[in-house]
Amino acid sequence: MEHQALDRAFALEAVRVTEAAAIASAGQIGRGDKHEADRVAVEAMRRAFSILPIDGTVVIGEGEMDEAPMLYIGERLGQGGIAVDIAVDPLEGTNLTAKALPNALAVMAMAEPGTLLNAPDMYMDKIAIGGGYPAGIIHIDADPAENILALARAKGVKPGEITACILDRPRHSHIIEKVRSAGAAVRLISDGDVAGVIATTDPATGIDIYLGSGGAPEGVLAAAALRCVGGQMQTRLDFQNDAERERAGRMGITDLKRIYHLTDLASGDVIFSATGVTDGWMLAGVKRSPTHITTESVVMRSATGTVRWIKGRHRRKPE
Ligand code: FBP
Repeated sequence: MEHQALDRAFALEAVRVTEAAAIASAGQIGRGDKHEADRVAVEAMRRAFSILPIDGTVVIGEGEMDEAPMLYIGERLGQGGIAVDIAVDPLEGTNLTAKALPNALAVMAMAEPGTLLNAPDMYMDKIAIGGGYPAGIIHIDADPAENILALARAKGVKPGEITACILDRPRHSHIIEKVRSAGAAVRLISDGDVAGVIATTDPATGIDIYLGSGGAPEGVLAAAALRCVGGQMQTRLDFQNDAERERAGRMGITDLKRIYHLTDLASGDVIFSATGVTDGWMLAGVKRSPTHITTESVVMRSATGTVRWIKGRHRRKPE
């Protein structure tokens, strides 16, 4: 049976939360201060949660209780009501916002309790493709060039017509080289791999596959979206040192080499919402006029697979 908390009315509630965070951080676009952009997004998102009729628990948040004053892991949110687990990234792309670059988003997912991976804040290797392909055509352990060739075969095109999205980091130079050697194009992004993964599900973006390592919390949020719209994703925690291994152990992760598939990251009913902060591939950013602020959001429900784009026109409060 569909989880009561995630009934249809909650889709709109979810949008209000990401709209609030996006509007707050939009005031910081291009101002060069990524911490301030994040801070105002967090504050606004928390305020928006506080009036929701939920008994929410943050499972993916801004950090541990002692390092994040708000939206910390374990924080309870809402006025009380139906139990949900919450994953948030109030500003996904703090640098993108500070530098006024595309694809900054306010993001959150609400899910049945116990169904989102409580991912530690560390790197995660990720590979993702959109919907409509046979299961298992890509594999996280395969050579990136082989994944490109397999995807091209499945899509019925030459490898030259495949585009991979990869974070522009020195740690990815070998992946970029292999992807290009297979004939595919690489679209490098400076930040924002939630948008990068979700882009694989929308043919209009021209992105067929996402590859590389980014934040593990971002991996869970992206998986929540893919659960709703379809697509394939495989991930593995990418430990940098023993301290991270120990931390994962304390969080109950015993198999450090485990491959997490989509439903290991987000297994139950989930609602995903994102609002554009800066203009992006799938969502326009926040726009201000003297009297109004406009927002563009996408909200998705895994129970039905419905995806809605919602334009908001918000009256500006007097300064
Ligand atoms: P922030 O919004 O927290 O700055 O994260 C942006 C981001 O680009 C994520 O999308 C991505 O998962 C991660 O940072 C990559 O980390 P790094 O910058 O260390 O490569």
